[in-house]
Amino acid sequence: MKKRSERFWQGVVIAAAVLSPLFLVAAAQNKAPSLPQGNAKAGKAIFDQNCSLCHFPNQTTTKIGPGLKGLFKNKTLPVSHKPTTVANVLHQVLNGNPSAKPMPMPAFKSKFSKKDLANLIAYLKTL
Ligand code: HEC
Repeated sequence: MKKRSERFWQGVVIAAAVLSPLFLVAAAQNKAPSLPQGNAKAGKAIFDQNCSLCHFPNQTTTKIGPGLKGLFKNKTLPVSHKPTTVANVLHQVLNGNPSAKPMPMPAFKSKFSKKDLANLIAYLKTL
């Protein structure tokens, strides 16, 4: 017959073994792709050319997509309500949303370099 404390520690070890990969996966998903240092001024030019058609930078009112004023100051994103992380914003920019209403948001995956993305994020953080 095993001692009670031995069982307890076995339980702890098994729980740790089961849970730790889950934590690693969660940590990996939260991690933003590594980007070079961004320049907000260069990012503004990218925004003006590619995003301002559908997004106001200085209001939260919807144009075609949601106004992005205060984007990174809010805990959650305006439409999906996912947490406001660089990774989630990049995901939206890279993949767009083909089923967005009233008009799909285009994917910018093939359009922006890493440097462009870093500049854009730096600008979005100033809104
Ligand atoms: C043709 C219009 C259009 C363009 C251009 C556009 N978007 Fe959007 N965007 C939308 C629409 C519509 C939505 C809301 C719908 C959705 O994602 O369901 C949206 C949503 C978003 C959101 C909120 C996502 C969320 O999860 O709540 C962010 C952030 C965003 N866009 C950033 C950008 C940036 C940055 C650019 C430029 C690189 C850009 N968009 C270009 C139409 C556009």
